[in-house]
Amino acid sequence: MKDENFLNENNARHMWHPMAHPGAMQQHPPRIIKTAEGSKITDRDGNTVVDGVGGLWCVNVGYSCDPIKKAIADQVQVLPYYSAFGGTTNEPAIELSYELREMFAPDGMGRAFFTSGGSDAVETALRLARQYHKVKGQPQRTKFLSLKKGYHGTHFGGASVNGNNRFRINYEPLMPGCFHLPTPYAYRNPFDETDPQKLGDLCVKAAIDEIEFQGPNTIACFIMEPIQGAGGVIVPPAHYMPAMRALCDQHGILMIADEVICGFGRTGDWSGSRHWGVQPDMMTMAKGITSGYFPFGACMISEAVAEVFETGDAELASIWHGYTYSAHPVGAAAALACIRESQRLRLPELAAPRGTQLFDGLRALQSKYPVIGDVRGGHGLMTAVELVSDADAKTPASPQAMKTAFEAAYASGAMVRIGGNNLLMSPPLVIAQAEVTTLIDAIEAAVSAL
Ligand SMILES: Cc1ncc(COP(=O)(O)O)c(C=O)c1O
Repeated sequence: MKDENFLNENNARHMWHPMAHPGAMQQHPPRIIKTAEGSKITDRDGNTVVDGVGGLWCVNVGYSCDPIKKAIADQVQVLPYYSAFGGTTNEPAIELSYELREMFAPDGMGRAFFTSGGSDAVETALRLARQYHKVKGQPQRTKFLSLKKGYHGTHFGGASVNGNNRFRINYEPLMPGCFHLPTPYAYRNPFDETDPQKLGDLCVKAAIDEIEFQGPNTIACFIMEPIQGAGGVIVPPAHYMPAMRALCDQHGILMIADEVICGFGRTGDWSGSRHWGVQPDMMTMAKGITSGYFPFGACMISEAVAEVFETGDAELASIWHGYTYSAHPVGAAAALACIRESQRLRLPELAAPRGTQLFDGLRALQSKYPVIGDVRGGHGLMTAVELVSDADAKTPASPQAMKTAFEAAYASGAMVRIGGNNLLMSPPLVIAQAEVTTLIDAIEAAVSAL
C-alpha cells in the first residue's frame, strides 16, 4: 500500500462516491477506514469507534468472523468463478439454495435466484412479477405499487418504486406505471394522524382507493420493506403488512417483501415478514446474507409462484434475466459460512435485546432534548433519531446541523449515518451491551452539540 501522503493526495480525486457530490468530496475528502474488529472500526488517524452503521446495515456478524474469511479464501483456491448461465453451476451455489430454502420455508419461500446485491435482487423480483402474470395469461398486469419513503436500490426499476425523491429527481423520467402509496409514518403524514393503528387503517384505505383507481387487473405487484430502513426506520403498525397481504390476495397482486435490510436477523427474527406473520410471494435479500464480506444477493420465490414458472410454457416461462455474477461460487461460499455463523450465534436473539436497549436509551434522551423530534425502532437493531430545529413545527434539522451532530457522535466514539434529518443506526448484531451504551452516549453528545 502507498504511503500516507499518497493516500491523502489521491483521496476522492479519481473516484466518485455513492450518494455524494464529487466536487464536495474533493474539498472534504472522506475518512479512510483502515481496519475493523468485532463491532468497531479504526480510521487512518487511529480513532477507533463503535460502528453504529454496521458497514451499511450489513455487517451482521461483525468484522471478525473467521469462518467467512476462510470460506472465501478456500473457495478462491478451488473455483474462483464459473458462470451459472447455459448449463453449468457450482457446488456452493447448490448448497446455498438448499440452505436458504430450509431457512425461509416458514416464509413460504422455495427457490432462489442469485444476484450481486440488493438492487439486482429488486430488479429481478420486479421483472419476475411481470413475467409471472404473462405466464398466467394476464400480460396487462404490468404496474408496480410501492410505499412512499421506501428504498429499493438504484437501478431504474428500483429507483422507480423508490419512495424518496432524493433518489429520483436527478434521474427522471423514471419508469412509467409505478405508483406510490402513503406509508404509515406516524410522525409526519398527510392525514395528520399520530395514532399508529388509525394511521395504518388510513394507509390501507388509500391503497384500496389507488388499486381501484388503477384497475386491480393492471397491477403486477406491490413491494414494501417490512420495516423501512433508509427512509428513516419507519415501523408499520402490526396489522399493516397483513392487511396489505390480504388486499394483494384479493386482487391477484404479488407481494414482494424487500428484506435487503430486514433479513437475516436484524429485526429480531430471520425475516422482517415473519415478524408481522406474513408470507410474501417473493423476498429480496442481500447485505446480511454475507454480512457484507462479499457482494451477494438473492431473490427468493415462493413455492406457489415457482410452480407457475416451472410448469409454464417454455417460451413464456424461461428466465431471460441474469447477471455474470449470479450464483458466484465465492459469494455462495461466503453466504453459506455467514448463514452458519448467524445460526450458531442465534443473531435474532442477540438483536432483539440490544435493539430494545438502544431504543429505550434513545427514547430516554428524547425527553431531555427537544431537538429529538422522534425516535423510531424497537424491533431489533434498526433505529432512527429524527432531529428537528423546532419541535412544535417539526422543522427538519438543517444539513449543517446534521453534520455537526454526526461529527460530535464520531468524536464521542460512534459512527452513525445521516439520512436526511435522521441519524440512522444499524450496528452489527453481535454488538456488546457496553458498546450500545457508547452509541447512546454518542447520540447524547451529538444532540448536545446542537
Ligand atoms: C431495502 C433495500 N433494498 C434494496 C437496497 C439496494 O441494495 P444494494 O445497495 O445492495 O444494491 C437497499 C440498500 O440499502 C435496501 O436498503
